[in-house]
Amino acid sequence: MSTTKTLLRALKGDVQAIPPIWMMRQAGRYLPEYRATRAKAGDFLSLCYTPDLAAEVTLQPIRRYGFDAAILFADILLLPQALGADLWFVTGEGPRLSTITTPADLAMLKPVSDIDATLAPVYETVRILARELPKETTLIGFAGAPWTVATYMIAGRGTPDQAPAHALMREDPATFDALIDRITEGTIAYLGAQIEAGAEVVKLFDSWAGSLKGDAFARYATAPTARIIAALKSKYPDVPVIAFPREAGDAYVGFARATGADCVALDNSVSADWAAANVQIDGCVQGNLAPSYMVSGGPELVSETRRIVKAFSKGPHIFNLGHGITPDADPDNVQRMIDAIRG
Ligand code: CP3
Repeated sequence: MSTTKTLLRALKGDVQAIPPIWMMRQAGRYLPEYRATRAKAGDFLSLCYTPDLAAEVTLQPIRRYGFDAAILFADILLLPQALGADLWFVTGEGPRLSTITTPADLAMLKPVSDIDATLAPVYETVRILARELPKETTLIGFAGAPWTVATYMIAGRGTPDQAPAHALMREDPATFDALIDRITEGTIAYLGAQIEAGAEVVKLFDSWAGSLKGDAFARYATAPTARIIAALKSKYPDVPVIAFPREAGDAYVGFARATGADCVALDNSVSADWAAANVQIDGCVQGNLAPSYMVSGGPELVSETRRIVKAFSKGPHIFNLGHGITPDADPDNVQRMIDAIRG
């Protein structure tokens, strides 16, 4: 394949002297231009559903830093909303949703064929970006993985230990499995529509995969991810998929093979040397600088960035943080990280 897009090359297995770079939450509150556009939109969800403004905040970090990839500005919780859950954000606290914990709640959800009515503006954002991005920049679409999305739908909010979702899994497995199935089918439709609109790569965020152990990990992290990837690959065989089973630990080993993912994204709780030996042997990996360096900066930011680049230098690698950049990050530290990689 001949492409000048460094991110696509890494996903095809190319080993590059300078890895492609992007950051989770690269469009976000640490950037003054993001805060200004968000104020113009009024609130976070209006920003997600206003294509011109969502495209604008997606482009801001590309203009400022020249990242190799842009990630669509949206949220993993738009799919539950499109399936009929109420969704709102409490400033300073995070998301709130109506809860799904009974067969009656589940029966109130809309069919997957209805999601486009809500999500059409997101697809329009993708179309704008496909037109406006620089030709060397790859456009990434995304969705939450079913388990992570289910944890929010069941609890109605973020939870430190995902206890309400674990409780439903134990106490009413039929309802729990039906919810996972509905989200899985919705995610296949949602990502397919993003690809049709122009997304060149898609990423599945399983932010809470680390709280699934043993059989539960296989059943609710690996299996739904594998099902989504198989469905997408049957229609779009050339579109790479990045999977992020955050804090999977030892379960990162073999995850790409078990799911068909083209790349596994790593959080910063695993060492880069360990991941190079045990995960990168199967193909491209993405990661994994701790986001705290974007706040603290200093010489450690540079040495840690270089250490990670070196650890992954023998195989295909996409440089990223181990999780999203935080609102208190210093935008100058992002430039220092990029200079340490490209300089
Ligand atoms: O990475 C990007 O720049 C693309 C956009 C993006 C957002 N959320 C925008 C956002 C992506 C890829 C996400 C994914 C997402 N959303 C995840 C998975 C990744 C992860 O962080 O683990 C999760 C769990 C969510 C759900 C969500 N959205 C939460 C828990 C919160 C509140 C916490 C917070 O950081 O405020 C959000 C809000 C959110 N999503 C913001 C952004 C930029 C902050 C909203 C604001 O501007 O006030």
